[in-house]
Amino acid sequence: MEQTMKDKTLFISGGTRGIGKAIVYEFAAKGANVAFTYASSADTANEIIADIESQYGVKCRAYKLNILEPLTYKDVYKEFDEDFDRLDYFISNAIISGRAVVGGFAPFMRLKPKGLGNIYTATVEAFVVGAQEATKRMEKTGGGSIISMSSTGNLVYTPNYSGHGTNKAAVETMVKYAAAELGEKNIRVNAVSGGPIDTDALKAFPNYEEVKSEVVNRSPLSRMGDATDLTGACSFLCSDAASWLTGQIIVIDGGTSFQ
Ligand SMILES: NC(=O)c1ccc[n+]([C@@H]2O[C@H](COP(=O)([O-])OP(=O)(O)OC[C@H]3O[C@@H](n4cnc5c(N)ncnc54)[C@H](OP(=O)(O)O)[C@@H]3O)[C@@H](O)[C@H]2O)c1
Repeated sequence: MEQTMKDKTLFISGGTRGIGKAIVYEFAAKGANVAFTYASSADTANEIIADIESQYGVKCRAYKLNILEPLTYKDVYKEFDEDFDRLDYFISNAIISGRAVVGGFAPFMRLKPKGLGNIYTATVEAFVVGAQEATKRMEKTGGGSIISMSSTGNLVYTPNYSGHGTNKAAVETMVKYAAAELGEKNIRVNAVSGGPIDTDALKAFPNYEEVKSEVVNRSPLSRMGDATDLTGACSFLCSDAASWLTGQIIVIDGGTSFQ
């Protein structure tokens, strides 16, 4: 692969699994240095660092972050500053699951403010603080590209997904506001919205098999998405080919949103 991102740096939240891990590998293969965060998978993070550095010869570091405490991003960025001297791309990708989404990942009549609030914090507030800190660094080098991962759960009814779906809608609108205000700094802000992708997050759905077969049936391409299906859009949005592209939501859903 041509190393088109040589000497650039990516910072992405949630790089240990699924979509985030696939993005870490895509950007490293293109020559970018990569910083990523993890929540609990410290061993996995270290394995990824060793693998990335030996395969691609780029610098790779990982930092512990809890997106339920978005202000702690500031401390993580201080650690980042000790390892890297520039930031070109920021991707807000990490998402909570398990206990943290109880009352948020549920049928409508079982929704609870606490669970919904957690998803808002992890989705919208974490994007805001992460992108603010990214902006402070990007403006020093003349610009950059910021992406929020989103999902088509705000376009297509998905059982139990109202908490995530509403907060993906919210973060997409936040992306547009950020794009409107950061353009003068030559910072572009976009979202990549994926249809159902076969990752740990989706396997945690109680009705995973049902969701999977429904997606396969609905997609004109007759398959579910793979984590690598979203990486191309991310690297495109960070390339010069996208230099006039900002404030947009790029939907990659295997055709599943049009029924
Ligand atoms: N899967 C889908 O169908 C799909 C479709 C479209 C869009 N998306 C979006 O794509 C993004 C990634 O999804 P995914 O399916 O790849 O997720 P995933 O496989 O569940 O991975 C989640 C990542 O977030 C980290 N994380 C978990 N809890 C955290 C916390 N409290 N604080 C900080 N980091 C935390 C995890 O780190 P540890 O390994 O250390 O726990 C992991 O790296 C999300 O924004 C999601 O909404 C997903």
